[in-house]
Amino acid sequence: MALPLPPRLLLSRRRLLRGLLAAAAASALPGALARSAEPLTRTLPGTGVALPRVGLGSWITFNVGDDPLLLEACTAVMAAFFAAGGRLIDSSPMYGTSQATIGHALKQLQAVERVYAADKVWTSSRDAGPEQIEASRQAWGVPRFDLLQVHNLRGWEGHLETLQAMKATGEVHHLGITTSHGRRHDEVEHILRRVSLDSVQLTYNIVDREAERRLLPLARERGIGLIANRPFQRKRLIRRLAGKPLPPWAAEIGAETWAQFILKFIISHPAITCAIPATTQVEHVRENLAAAREPLPDEALRRRMADHVRGL
Ligand SMILES: NC(=O)c1ccc[n+]([C@@H]2O[C@H](COP(=O)([O-])OP(=O)(O)OC[C@H]3O[C@@H](n4cnc5c(N)ncnc54)[C@H](OP(=O)(O)O)[C@@H]3O)[C@@H](O)[C@H]2O)c1
Repeated sequence: MALPLPPRLLLSRRRLLRGLLAAAAASALPGALARSAEPLTRTLPGTGVALPRVGLGSWITFNVGDDPLLLEACTAVMAAFFAAGGRLIDSSPMYGTSQATIGHALKQLQAVERVYAADKVWTSSRDAGPEQIEASRQAWGVPRFDLLQVHNLRGWEGHLETLQAMKATGEVHHLGITTSHGRRHDEVEHILRRVSLDSVQLTYNIVDREAERRLLPLARERGIGLIANRPFQRKRLIRRLAGKPLPPWAAEIGAETWAQFILKFIISHPAITCAIPATTQVEHVRENLAAAREPLPDEALRRRMADHVRGL
């Protein structure tokens, strides 16, 4: 069952409506589902499924309750996401009404076939898992999830058994685990070494690089996909860089904004399948998807990018 989020995690109506006005100007609703340039993809290892290298998160941003205008604003964000070639949307029963918001937009946009639906199971009770997953599926309005992840490793042993059984019967295509805390990395490593997974989701960006040492190489070696959450440190990173000019050599990797600079850093790591920034803004979703295009930095340029941001 979705729990209400504390007020500090609720979005301001004004912020979402700003996104809606921008969307209206660009007429982003159903007709606009025809796609623009295709983003670069990477295959989720071992699955043959090619995913665009930028997806869409939904924590806070899509927790808008049943306000029709706010639902329309989120639908506009998802319309722009699909129009830009996006596929993977990530949610969780922990994210307030976000799952229902996604379900509303998928229905409006007739996009159930297009989405790669990534959700989570989030309960310490193993027995409560299947019921929670079914409630989530109904909220999304999809026939089945493409990816189910154990949220923050909560009750992972029991839930992974459930998900493995569901995968065997075709009730879910892929399974994984998530975390966003460095202090859980030992436990993540333990699971990656022992359990057969399709993906692991963790925090990785140009300043939070702890995962580079052990987990990224290990996931690659084990043939496990990697989804990078919190690419913008919940926007803290964007705020920190705002007002500072991009280095002139950002043009070499086609980054026109700091958001694109950060995303290109993340998705150019050879182990990363995709990054999943969340946004309330149509313009931002377009900007983020446009980061998943050539050129991307090579290893030398990635080092230069990280050094540059560290020095600011
Ligand atoms: N343990 C877990 O499973 C876990 C933990 C954390 C996150 N996640 C997943 O990862 C997703 C992403 O993480 P997050 O939501 O915590 O943070 P995030 O994606 O790092 O940051 C989201 C913030 O970035 C801003 N933003 C997005 N695109 C932008 C752009 N182009 N320019 C400027 N600002 C931009 C958004 O503001 P605007 O609305 O103004 O664009 C939003 O406030 C989550 O939504 C969730 O799906 C999972």
